[in-house]
Amino acid sequence: MFTNVIVKTPCKAVTEGITSAPELGKPDYEKALQQHRRYIEALKQCGVTVTVLPADETFPDSCFVEDTAVLTERCAVISNPGAPTRARETEAMIPVIKQFYPEECIEFITAPGTMEGGDVMMVGDTFYIGRSARTNAEGIRQFSEILGKYGYQVVEVPLEKVLHLKTGVNYLEHGHMLVSGEFTGKEEFAPYHRHEIPEAEAYAANCIWVNEKVLVPEGYPTVERIVREMGYEVILVDTSEFRKIDGGLSCLSLRFKAMK
Ligand code: GLY
Repeated sequence: MFTNVIVKTPCKAVTEGITSAPELGKPDYEKALQQHRRYIEALKQCGVTVTVLPADETFPDSCFVEDTAVLTERCAVISNPGAPTRARETEAMIPVIKQFYPEECIEFITAPGTMEGGDVMMVGDTFYIGRSARTNAEGIRQFSEILGKYGYQVVEVPLEKVLHLKTGVNYLEHGHMLVSGEFTGKEEFAPYHRHEIPEAEAYAANCIWVNEKVLVPEGYPTVERIVREMGYEVILVDTSEFRKIDGGLSCLSLRFKAMK
């Protein structure tokens, strides 16, 4: 179960966030703020305490806090984002994470290692990590060494097309996994009950489980039905403005059980 969530208010420069889909247009700032507020409300419905950090105009993508850290029940790992414009987003996150984790349990990925939290998916005591354009071999090596000290297992998953691992695969607990595109046939995920998402709704493979409720992006009826059939209460959240800059539900928060 998660006790806490950290989010960061989108800044005005969110309109300049990194995107692989410029054809979708730039995010509308006011609409993004409205969607972000609704996202916070949805998280509160899941019984977590939400820490809302102020907007930071220095970093257009800084609302995507998930990439700055991996927060486990035994340690926090501050990442080293592989996107040059995002590399220093972690600096503002360190004092925040110190509020929830003892200093001796805070670890760091350092250069030349890179890692973004969107590439890390927790399944119990196993952490799957995507080798991507943002997370490199050295970052994975460091992450494996760190998590190994805390008794966790790390499994590398090479990515072919998508930005982050969780762009296309997400674990919704109780054995349920949403998979799309390049992840549908991956043997690493064979032990789970894989729910294949059709290409037209691939964006919505990025749903998040929060304390037995699942947040699902609004406007993807097949995914909504699949998640409801798992038996979960679904909370729909419109993320249209974040989609324009490759952002999904998971990217917008750090969800964790605080150690202090
Ligand atoms: N725009 C989100 C990212 O590229 O990290």
